[in-house]
Amino acid sequence: MRMAERNNAQTLVSMVEIQKSFGKVNVLKGVNFEVGKNEIVGLVGDNGAGKSTLIKILTGVHQPNEGEIYFKGEKITIHSVARSRELGIETVYQEQALSEQQTMWRNIFMGREITNRFGFLKVEEEKKETEDILRKQMGFTSKAITTDSIVKSLSGGEKQGIAIGRALYFNADLIILDEPTMGLSLAETRKVLDFVKNIKEKGKSAIFISHNIYYVYPVADRFVILDRGNVAGRFLKAEITQDELVEKMVRLAKTGKMS
Ligand SMILES: Nc1ncnc2c1ncn2[C@@H]1O[C@H](COP(=O)(O)OP(=O)(O)O)[C@@H](O)[C@H]1O
Ligand SMILES: [Mg+2]
Repeated sequence: MRMAERNNAQTLVSMVEIQKSFGKVNVLKGVNFEVGKNEIVGLVGDNGAGKSTLIKILTGVHQPNEGEIYFKGEKITIHSVARSRELGIETVYQEQALSEQQTMWRNIFMGREITNRFGFLKVEEEKKETEDILRKQMGFTSKAITTDSIVKSLSGGEKQGIAIGRALYFNADLIILDEPTMGLSLAETRKVLDFVKNIKEKGKSAIFISHNIYYVYPVADRFVILDRGNVAGRFLKAEITQDELVEKMVRLAKTGKMS
């Protein structure tokens, strides 16, 4: 078995020789993938490369056919989304799991409500915490956005921000962003990228998936290129310029080879 690229005290999660098929279609063909502590990894590659499938194995949506997962040095199985969350892995999907008709504070605490010993909701406490998340964690300054705002009234970028803020609040060690800027305007995208920088500043880790290198490059520490179910390349940001990375991806798409 090929050794994972790095497995030491600095490794947060390590996926080793992961294989996944859907019926006869082999989507992941023995992928080694790691995320370090306080590292932002850009997971890039063409549509259909297997990026979402790979991270869905981490979030407990799919089970691998083969391979092992290590989290903080321990071998684990992630049999459900609940288990993944319990471990400290949170996902921010494009089709965000926010409840549109509900207020901000209800959304932050959905499924993890603060209750007293009789099981009653501590509304004031949840509102106060939400206010803190908005102003301190996420840096929302607009007076128009309050704890009582209905999520539907937020822009796409703000919604992603709430989802990231929520993950940070619940102390996720690893936040996974799968195409978080899809369908967003440029200004909105910039906001989301700022939120990703926030994850880094808070000492946490992230996997940032996008097929747009121009968004991934500035915020990631390292890049992993997935190509038709295989890792085609790994680069530290220090090793490669944005233009070189783009050029490699274009060549890969055209010729099926990196160089
Ligand atoms: N639940 C599924 N059932 C069958 N095929 C799937 C399923 N999920 C993904 N695939 C296939 O796996 C391949 C990789 O998909 P995906 O992981 O979504 O790629 P990416 O996120 O890189 O665009 C695609 O060919 C896709 O059609
Ligand atoms: Mg995808």
